[in-house]
Amino acid sequence: MPAHTQSSSHSERPGKSPVSRSGRFSGGPAADVARYTESISFDWRLWKQDIQGSIAHARMLCRMGVLTQKELQAIVRGLTSIGRDIAAGQFEWKQSLEDVHMNIESALTQRAAAGAKLHTARSRNDQVALDMRLWLREELDHASQDIANLQRALVNLGTRHAGVIIPGYTHLQRAQPVYLAHHLLAYVEMLERDIERLKDCRRRVNVCPLGSGAIAGSTLPLQREWVAGELGFVDDRGRIQVTRNSMDGVSDRDYLVEFCAASALLAVHFSRMAEDLILWAGTEFSFIQIADAYTTGSSLMPQKKNPDIAELARGKTGRVTGNLMALLTLLKGLPMAYNRDLQEDKERVFDTADTVRATARLLAAMLDHTTVNEANCAAAASDPALLATDLADYLVERGMPFRQAHHVVGTLVAAAARKGKALNELDHAEFLEVDRLFGPDVTEVFLLSRAMARRKVTGAPGTRETARQLKFWQRALSIQPVQKFGKTPGARSRRG
Ligand code: ARG
Repeated sequence: MPAHTQSSSHSERPGKSPVSRSGRFSGGPAADVARYTESISFDWRLWKQDIQGSIAHARMLCRMGVLTQKELQAIVRGLTSIGRDIAAGQFEWKQSLEDVHMNIESALTQRAAAGAKLHTARSRNDQVALDMRLWLREELDHASQDIANLQRALVNLGTRHAGVIIPGYTHLQRAQPVYLAHHLLAYVEMLERDIERLKDCRRRVNVCPLGSGAIAGSTLPLQREWVAGELGFVDDRGRIQVTRNSMDGVSDRDYLVEFCAASALLAVHFSRMAEDLILWAGTEFSFIQIADAYTTGSSLMPQKKNPDIAELARGKTGRVTGNLMALLTLLKGLPMAYNRDLQEDKERVFDTADTVRATARLLAAMLDHTTVNEANCAAAASDPALLATDLADYLVERGMPFRQAHHVVGTLVAAAARKGKALNELDHAEFLEVDRLFGPDVTEVFLLSRAMARRKVTGAPGTRETARQLKFWQRALSIQPVQKFGKTPGARSRRG
């Protein structure tokens, strides 16, 4: 709850009766009931959307003739002033009023008598569905921007060290050489799919439920399409989007599940990336160095510089995947239509959005302040065993079936190990001992730059292909041409 929230939660007396109980109930709920059922401590975050939705609803009521122009003006003025007070931290949230909807409506009625007409043909059930859709729609756009900025940080790091080659690993064993940029771009690809998933989710978020009422719409002639248009519920082809079924309209939370599912996979990607960075920053790899400001120390061991951002990015995956499970479990077995259980969706969704957005931002900032130890990368990439497959390809090019070539090179690797030599330290005679097909040109296979130039296949970490991929992403992410070397870390262009 924000600092300015006033809570009556510590009083054991029953609270005063909120509008939702007037008439039907003889008094307010017991204090611990109010505490248990309230949502204002977290749904106050929806205040902007709640006001936005109420203004649109009031305009529609005026078009219907339920409100006069004067009443509409008083309501809009009242809601605008409430918004100003909330933004300034001067609004008093009351737990006794349960949630953001009733807090705002009650304050409005105090400021404008016409406020008592605002809830005509509207229920908190469709109101909360509307607010969440408006909130998430905006959040999805911000999250996509945050992820795109992380993509830019990855591309920029790859560009700053465009010539750096490292071992690629499978089973965490050295496999074949790759450009560092190629490795980083693998994450850019994953993040692109994450953005696409969020975009796809947005299409289903962007449908207006308002007008569903509590469960069964209204007997009053609502202009649902008009309100939806006012609130921007319009698809890419300009068609207004409203929910088709009032029961589904108030109880559907699929769009929240989709968001949490897309975010869970996004968090898994963050976690994998974080794991690579943690390994690379460790002494055993020493491929990268993270700037002091983006690491932490140990309270005991003076030499330590820990990659805590990356570790927390990895660790926070637990809560994001957990939030998805919580939502699915929450929805399972719910009868139609609205049930109070649905109030439990908010904290999971807010936490997911906050966590993935902060993680994207922090990982990007950390990468902007990361330098590559090029000499260590070069030393690791110079391991000739990384080119054993190239050696098999050499034999294939001379007509040998690949399975046989694989066996020959395996024999060669074993022979070199027996002799205590690296693969590229064997002389031509020693190659010939294993197979007659090896020519004197076999040593060229171990020239790393030649080996990289020969990887011309689309999507391979070849010299030209990697440069092409980097250029593709620079353009796709509207990154201004960056100098390859001698850049200032952190001076990155951002898409506006
Ligand atoms: N705070 C509620 C929620 O988050 C708002 C809707 C309440 N509706 C009701 N009929 N009690 O779901």
